[in-house]
Amino acid sequence: MAATIKDTVSNLVGKMSGHSEASLRQPSSEEFEQLQKKYVDAGQGQVFAFVDELSSVEKAQLFHQMNNFDPVRINELADTALNPAKADEGPISLEPLPEVATASILDSDSKDLQQWYDEGLQLVAQNKVAVVLMAGGQGTRLGSSAPKGCFDIGLPSHKSLFQIQAERIAKLQLLAKKSSGKDAVIPWYVMTSGPTRKPTEEFFQQHDYFGLAQNNVFIFEQGVLPCISNEGKILMESKAKAAVAPDGNGGIYQALLTSGVREDMRKRGIEHIHTYCVDNCLVKVADPVFIGFAASKNVDIATKVVRKRNATESVGLILQKNGKPDVVEYSEIDKETAEAKDPKQPEVLKFRAANIVNHYYSFRFFESIESWAHKLPHHVARKKIPCIKPENGEAFKPEKPNGIKLEQFVFDVFPLTPLEKFASIEVRREDEFSPLKNAKGTGEDDQDTSKRDIMKQGQRWIEGAGGVVITEDEWTGVEVSPLISYGGEGLEFLKGREIKAPAVIEKEE
Ligand code: UD1
Repeated sequence: MAATIKDTVSNLVGKMSGHSEASLRQPSSEEFEQLQKKYVDAGQGQVFAFVDELSSVEKAQLFHQMNNFDPVRINELADTALNPAKADEGPISLEPLPEVATASILDSDSKDLQQWYDEGLQLVAQNKVAVVLMAGGQGTRLGSSAPKGCFDIGLPSHKSLFQIQAERIAKLQLLAKKSSGKDAVIPWYVMTSGPTRKPTEEFFQQHDYFGLAQNNVFIFEQGVLPCISNEGKILMESKAKAAVAPDGNGGIYQALLTSGVREDMRKRGIEHIHTYCVDNCLVKVADPVFIGFAASKNVDIATKVVRKRNATESVGLILQKNGKPDVVEYSEIDKETAEAKDPKQPEVLKFRAANIVNHYYSFRFFESIESWAHKLPHHVARKKIPCIKPENGEAFKPEKPNGIKLEQFVFDVFPLTPLEKFASIEVRREDEFSPLKNAKGTGEDDQDTSKRDIMKQGQRWIEGAGGVVITEDEWTGVEVSPLISYGGEGLEFLKGREIKAPAVIEKEE
């Protein structure tokens, strides 16, 4: 499957900065002049300011990079981002989602849960379920230059996040096979970006795709957008290259098209898709309960939420905005909304449905991507962007934000979905959400809390199966390999056994 991947914009850019530079086609001088004129006319002529100093290879590199963007469109995006039109938005009404669109694992009837699980597993067994992982982020808060999925959170097994997720897929394929008697395949589509693609591919190769069949793993790449100065000008990383950044996790939709992923799904007869973020070590990849829940409700989009920890937690909120499903992101929420209390239960927050970026999509919804993906808004992230000075080409490392990155958000598609085609399900945080966001030692959403939450979950599972865990403090526990148990099942062999924590259960013996 990997061979069928088409080059996306950022992939081309990546190649241009790599060893394949020499093989780039040289543009004719006419082509170059035409492109230059397009940028000059759009007021972005500075991107070609040092063209006379470039070698022919560098010139070709710059040509191909800039040819991938439309300067007029970039100006429009920059203008909307830098001068948001506040006036005509009108009053905004925010309310929690109505009860008809929500359910909760916490208080659902166990019969419903079992029914959703059975239905979801059956869909897996019928090869109708696919998984898309969003792993194109650069993990700046974590302070590691490697892709987050390669991160070793310090488990006794030293498994990376990618490996944990791959093993859950492998286990679920086996559970589905056990229930139906036939081989089941859950294709795994891994979205990377310019900075994360190569190291991700190498990591998967080094680890032999973590035991999954290589032709069921598809590594693809999202697009990039130029970084813009506070004055609306495209910033240059060097004289021959614009500074670019991944276009946000909302870039997933365009990338599904340009990479051939949607086409591959179609060929495989996929009907249900689970997407999620790489940083959540507890993610239930292709969770049958979630798939069965969404499929039985016949919705186009569904999402999992957990109870927000407190008013300041860095999570988006799932709610209805002007009567449509939506998310208000933590970077954009005002204090009053974040702190509002539920009038019916004043001890809890009014808006508490925290987005954990576990989304379900029907394939039929993906059929319409062309009609809306380009319309999703771009959000502004103010950043310190290393660049060259336009007046003399000298390198410049800013100490305060000197520009913006433009990002689409994956959830901005929610308001396009009518409420009756949207559903949300509350899940247990301790079972499904422990993201790796911050550097070690932060004490919140860092590698130690990730490790602790996996070990504690393992301990709960073992105790639930009748085993006894001897543990000294709340930070120890037992790592249970996903190859042994996907969600706590199949641990009966530990009944009556005593296990001294920390430990790892890798084999049934
Ligand atoms: C995200 C959610 C937020 C949610 C929180 C839960 C978005 C926009 N925000 O915030 O509502 O409550 O997670 O943990 O989804 N990524 C890409 N390409 C990009 C940028 C990011 O694939 O260009 C991926 C990352 O690799 C990661 C995921 O998207 O897997 C989330 O990105 P991150 O920047 O960590 O999101 P948060 O700000 O934590």
